[in-house]
Parts: sequence; structure tokens; C-alpha cells
Amino acid sequence: MFDIIKQIVEKCRLAIEEATDTSILADIKVRFLGKNGEYTGILRGMKNLSPEERPSFGKFVNEGRAFIEQKIAEKEAQLKAEEQRKKLESETIDVTLDDDSAIGSIHPLTLVKDEIVNIFLGLGFEVKEGPEIETDMFNFQLLNVPKDHPARDMQDTFYLTDNILLRTHTSPMQARVMTTEKPPIRIICPGKVYRSDDDATHSPIFNQVEGLVIDKGVSLSHLKGCLDMFAKAMFGKETKTRFRPSYFPFTEPSVEVDVSCSMCGGKGCKLCKGTGWIEVLGAGVVNPDVLTNCGIDPEEYSGFAFGFGVDRMAMIKYGIPHIRLMYENDVRVLKQYK
Ligand code: PHE
Repeated sequence: MFDIIKQIVEKCRLAIEEATDTSILADIKVRFLGKNGEYTGILRGMKNLSPEERPSFGKFVNEGRAFIEQKIAEKEAQLKAEEQRKKLESETIDVTLDDDSAIGSIHPLTLVKDEIVNIFLGLGFEVKEGPEIETDMFNFQLLNVPKDHPARDMQDTFYLTDNILLRTHTSPMQARVMTTEKPPIRIICPGKVYRSDDDATHSPIFNQVEGLVIDKGVSLSHLKGCLDMFAKAMFGKETKTRFRPSYFPFTEPSVEVDVSCSMCGGKGCKLCKGTGWIEVLGAGVVNPDVLTNCGIDPEEYSGFAFGFGVDRMAMIKYGIPHIRLMYENDVRVLKQYK
């Protein structure tokens, strides 16, 4: 009987030693120590022993079992460590691999738009966005541009139907906000706009940012202060601004705003075409008729509005010579503005 036990223990020990992975080891465990296992079966022989023999036999069986269990545990730890090592080896990622081409960068237009938005957020403005497919009502009529108005020629419009169009500027957002919200209003509205126009500085699709402030006692000097601060934040502390009289149907008075050239500091260069100034935006005091159209009492409230091209700002800031470069998305170009 004792010899049989010794044989089984030895057989088991050899099997454990030869096991090459943890699942084989688990099978061995079941084969020997499981409920119907070979080793467990020995205990059934106990009933043939005399009561005197049983205790020493039982002790021997238990010791054998403990030995097998220990061998299994040792082997299991060894196999697991090996399996882990192999897994780590096969899943290694070489973090030193140099693959610059796979790294993306933020589009220059997004960079500039984010910068503009951040400056105005710092001045207490709120961001509002609206539809690119707009009605004639919001794009023109509420902004004091009736159907037969010659000012429509200023903006070559893509019409979808007689009354639906691709917005030609972000100014319809002025009307959208004024018709739905009560003053005080202090918003900027970035977004895409569309015009039938195509040359080195004009693209049929481009980006604008609209600004609108409506409150009690707002005047042209608030507009000047606000835009001067913006220009300095955007193009550098030394930047000067210049306001020239202009015309927009939705503002009165209207101005065109120039900034001193950031490339030559105002001396005159290629970028500013020798003038020392670069035109960057249109603005003005909101026309009282526009306030009335949008349900705001011009006797109680006044405001200013401005609108500028993000593309133009990006071209000035990064010296990009052709607007189309920003829409062709050639990675060799985009890569330069990380
Ligand atoms: N919407 C005008 C344009 O696109 C710019 C503008 C906005 C002018 C607000 C005055 C006030 O040319």
C-alpha cells in the first residue's frame, strides 16, 4: 500500500516537472488530486486496513498530498512568471520610435480663432454660434438691407431659394440674439461664411467673427477702446489702431479699422503694401433701425458691432500669402503652424 502511494507521488512529481504551461498543470492537479483523481482513489483502500494501521496510513497519505500540492504551487509560480515574461516581450512598444509624420497639428485657422475667442472671453464676452444656411430676413432685412438695397452688391450672395441663402457674414447672429435675448448683450459669434468671390485674398468660403454689445449708454468710444485692446492683445502691445469712416447699412456711424503693420512696425513693407497699416475689420454703432427691427428700444439701449475675417488675421499673423492655402489642407503647409 505504502509503495503504491510512493509510486503515484513519484509519477505525479514527474508529470509536474514536465508540464510546459499552466493549463497542463491544472489538468495534472485534476488528474491526481481531483474528486475522482488517482491519488484521491487511494483513500478508498483505507477500508481494507485494520483500525491500528489506519492512523499512520492516513498521515502518510496526507504528507504525500501536501508534497504534491507544494510541487504544483512551485511549478505554477514558475510557469506564470515565464508566461508573463513572454507576454511582455511580445507586446513591447518601442516608445523611442521616431515617427514625426503621424503627429497632427492644429489648423492655423483654428489656432487664430481660439486666440481671438480667448481674448474676448477675457473681456466678458459670451460665444454664440448659429446656422450657415440663413434666411434673407436674418442675413439682410433685419439688418436694414431690404430686397432692392444697393448694399446687397457689397456681398455676392449664394442664394439657395429666393429667401434662403448661405450667410454672407456672421452679422445675422446679431439679429438672432437681439430678437431672442434681452440686453445687456455682449457676444462674439465665430463661424463660416460664403461669398461668390475668389482671388489671392478672397475664398468662396471663409471665417468671420462677429461682435455685438448692447447696453445702456454704449457709444463709439466704447467700440474704439474695446477694439484697441483687442488689437494689442492679438498683434502685440506696440500695435496702434486707426478708425476710418465707412458705410454699413446696419451701423451708423460706421468705421473701417486698421492696425499698424506687425511686420514692419508701421514703416511700410510688402505685407502692408508700403502704407504701414493693415485693414482688419468693419464696425460701427448699431443703427437704431436695426434695434427697432429686433424689438429693442433705441431710446433705452444703444450698442456697437464689429466683424472681421479670421482668415485675414491668420494670413497677417503667419505671413500666409494665399487664402486658398488654408483650405487646401496640404499637410506640408499645415505642419508649419504647430
Ligand atoms: N458684416 C460686415 C461684413 O461682413 C462687417 C461688420 C460687422 C460691419 C458688424 C459692421 C458691424 O463686411
